[in-house]
Amino acid sequence: MSKTTDPPSRVSDDRRRARFVLPFAAAGLVLALGLFGAGVFLWLSGSAGAAIGGPFTLENGSGQTVTDRSFRGKYMLVYFGYTYCPDVCPTTLNEVAGALDQLGPKAKLIQPLFITVDPRRDTPAAMKQYASAFTPRLMGLTGTPEQIDQVEREYHVYAAKHVTGPGPNDYSMDHSSVLYLMGPDGRFIAPIDAGDTAPQLAQKLAGLVS
Ligand code: NI
Repeated sequence: MSKTTDPPSRVSDDRRRARFVLPFAAAGLVLALGLFGAGVFLWLSGSAGAAIGGPFTLENGSGQTVTDRSFRGKYMLVYFGYTYCPDVCPTTLNEVAGALDQLGPKAKLIQPLFITVDPRRDTPAAMKQYASAFTPRLMGLTGTPEQIDQVEREYHVYAAKHVTGPGPNDYSMDHSSVLYLMGPDGRFIAPIDAGDTAPQLAQKLAGLVS
């Protein structure tokens, strides 16, 4: 019967080590995610020449066909997401709605577009109801899976289905979250951080739109 006092002290050593190491691990992870985000953002910022955006044919909330050309003469503020999004989409769209209210007359120059990455569930009617709940200015767009694939590729959007259960609707969509400002000629002007608050967004848009 050898009773040792070693295990308790080893446990507390491990705890001490964990207390010491974990903050660094957490900081490293945050830094890595931050660098990834900044990298994506810089990549988008730096590729103004390398075609972001392009022709698309989609359906508005009334089931009418709209194309990129439908918005010529207006700036397009394009955001990709989906109506079942638990968090990021509603937060972003809420800030966009607030920013446009704060922009004053310049808001009339901008058509905000919400394009679904989940066309299977996001029907025109669902998009209309969802978008109009944020602001009547916001137009929700959906389309066939092929049409959505195409516009996602053009805007360099990342979207992937994440299955959460056995049912056909048991899934979420992982997706990139960037606001794209497109000019009145349809060309890409700048990415805008979708994490911005309404006042930050309003200030940026005021500087970019005239
Ligand atoms: Ni979302």
